[in-house]
Amino acid sequence: MGGAPDPAARAAALRAEITRHDHAYYVLDAPTVPDAEYDRLFRELQALEAAHPELCVPDSPTRRVGGRPLAQFAPVRHRVPMLSIRTETDTEATGAYAFDARVRRELGLDDADPPVEYAAELKFDGLAINLRYEHGVLVQAATRGDGETGEDVTQNVRTVRAIPLRLNGGAPAVLEVRGEVYMRRDDFEQLNARQLAAGEKIFVNPRNAAAGSIRQLDPGIAARRPLTFFAYGLGETMGWPLPASHADVLDALQAFGLPVCEHRSVLQGAAALAEFHARIGALRDSLPFDIDGVVYKVNSLALQQRLGFVTREPRWAVAHKYPAQEAVTLLRDIEVQVGRTGALTPVARLEPVFVGGVTVTNATLHNQDEIDRKDVRIGDWVIVRRAGDVIPEVVAPVVERRSGELPRFDLLARYPACPVCGSHVVRGEDEAVARCTGGLFCPAQRKQALLHFAGRRAMDIDGLGEKLVDQLVDAAIVKTPVDIYRLGILGLANLERMGDKSAQNLLAAIDRSRHTTLARFVFALGIRNVGEATARDLARHFGSLDALLAADEAALQQVPDVGPIVARSIVEFLGEPHNREVIEQLRAAGVHWEEAEPAAIASGRLVGKTLVLTGTLPTLTRDQAKAMVEAQGGKVAGSVSRKTDYVVAGSEAGSKLLKAEELGVTILDEQGLMALLEGRI
Ligand code: IVH
Repeated sequence: MGGAPDPAARAAALRAEITRHDHAYYVLDAPTVPDAEYDRLFRELQALEAAHPELCVPDSPTRRVGGRPLAQFAPVRHRVPMLSIRTETDTEATGAYAFDARVRRELGLDDADPPVEYAAELKFDGLAINLRYEHGVLVQAATRGDGETGEDVTQNVRTVRAIPLRLNGGAPAVLEVRGEVYMRRDDFEQLNARQLAAGEKIFVNPRNAAAGSIRQLDPGIAARRPLTFFAYGLGETMGWPLPASHADVLDALQAFGLPVCEHRSVLQGAAALAEFHARIGALRDSLPFDIDGVVYKVNSLALQQRLGFVTREPRWAVAHKYPAQEAVTLLRDIEVQVGRTGALTPVARLEPVFVGGVTVTNATLHNQDEIDRKDVRIGDWVIVRRAGDVIPEVVAPVVERRSGELPRFDLLARYPACPVCGSHVVRGEDEAVARCTGGLFCPAQRKQALLHFAGRRAMDIDGLGEKLVDQLVDAAIVKTPVDIYRLGILGLANLERMGDKSAQNLLAAIDRSRHTTLARFVFALGIRNVGEATARDLARHFGSLDALLAADEAALQQVPDVGPIVARSIVEFLGEPHNREVIEQLRAAGVHWEEAEPAAIASGRLVGKTLVLTGTLPTLTRDQAKAMVEAQGGKVAGSVSRKTDYVVAGSEAGSKLLKAEELGVTILDEQGLMALLEGRI
């Protein structure tokens, strides 16, 4: 290992390795490295790029989140229109036969001809996106819009980790990939829980959450939203021989590194389509994401061309729907559930009703504002919706069936005190949520905090589930997370339904959880507004728990995407002596992780300097130039003022250049910028 390693080669190797791990994690759903190792690689690359800004490239995994909030999205004209798809509303098998019959008629086939070959796939319930790759690099992402013109959402789409910034293999000159950005149901649930805890807007369903996130003007917020993607088709292509069939197109996209859903089949004839519809229907509830049907496409691209379009819909494709997962029932009462942060969530107690394959007796009403907005009242007939594993929800009352005057529901009037611990319930001025003030004195909050602590994405204590936590808290065996590490076989053996074997398994799982990562530990603490991604960023930034514990609000806000609200939550949490004590006791109980060097914090040649970029530079894109400036601690501003230190001007620079001249601000060209970055001027 003699000699200094070549930084360019090392950066390239790190980028390739991180990209491979991202692909394994986000596309293949099969992680290849422990979190701590991934974090180490990521930090090394960040440090290397900070020290050598010339190594910054736009497709680096460190550059997924970068841009500033936009004032509005720019329009993008689709080179190939984004069509919609005809919907078959007959949700029975006959729907598949009707489509096949139409296709056969259009193709002039009669009963003696062989069956038509179809590609069958899922109809994802998200937002259609066009990804444009040029020479393998993602250059633009746009929404569908009206099919002719969409919106440029590149900044936000770059934060979707399942979407490669660079394609594998010999990528064509131009490849436009079409697909659906969506949110998994478990991610959606967690997002809503976080939104609720932060007193922010609750999303109605994963589709709305995905669409709302992609339409975020602030890419920092979009980056916090757990989005993912499936490719299902093509837009414009150049320099690429088209495969013969749709199934081959999907295989090719997969080989380029794009996520393509595994539930796809090549099928012959109508009966096979109907069978696919039934098979996926049976699977629907166990899928981790929402679908509202399946899609059949004539497999041969040549036949697709022959069939062509009617208005905006191709004749060669159809969406075959499933029955709605809604039913009407009586709302008997509204009670509340107390969450980890004390939030009181109103829960509808319903006359039992069969929806989407199960009997529903409870449904969420989210919060008082939602109840007001929907105007749901006790005694109403209500529409209940259940999608997959998502908690059923009350969609709306059937107002025509309301008998007489029903009083409006007022949560604070009905629950001035917490139904679990009797503490006061308060609702902050501009908060959507009412909270129990009991803190960890409240058994309900304590239980939720412990469940969060033990959760799969936190300390990952297998076997410490709801029933057990209930028993442990009710019997006063466990009060804080530290007590978990003090559990012994005797204490456990006395619990209901706890055999020797399960007790031993649990103790082994508890013991395993002692060795963790800083990110998981920080997440496990359950600090308000600190989700998994923020915990990861904090761990990356500070490198050690002591550095994090010592940070004040200003230091915390140095972490990418940590704003004043999150910083305040952290400082408040850590300012509570009781919380500090729990942290110290956990360390004393043997909870540990590997500590690392903190990521390069704002340092570099341009700390405190503000630059403005204008016009087109000869070789660097705006994003590249910006990344390089920021890697050296500089700020890139949108307009020129007396505070601007340098204006970097390319060709067709306009009013900003004039303003710079007027104010006497130093003007640089691309070479000048490079000289500045390298410390030559
Ligand atoms: S193909 C020419 N395939 O459904 C056909 N669309 O109206 C173009 N969608 O909003 C669409 N899953 O985003 C196709 N497997 C799938 C799909 C799918 C969901 C959405 C699409 C669009 C709508 C089509």
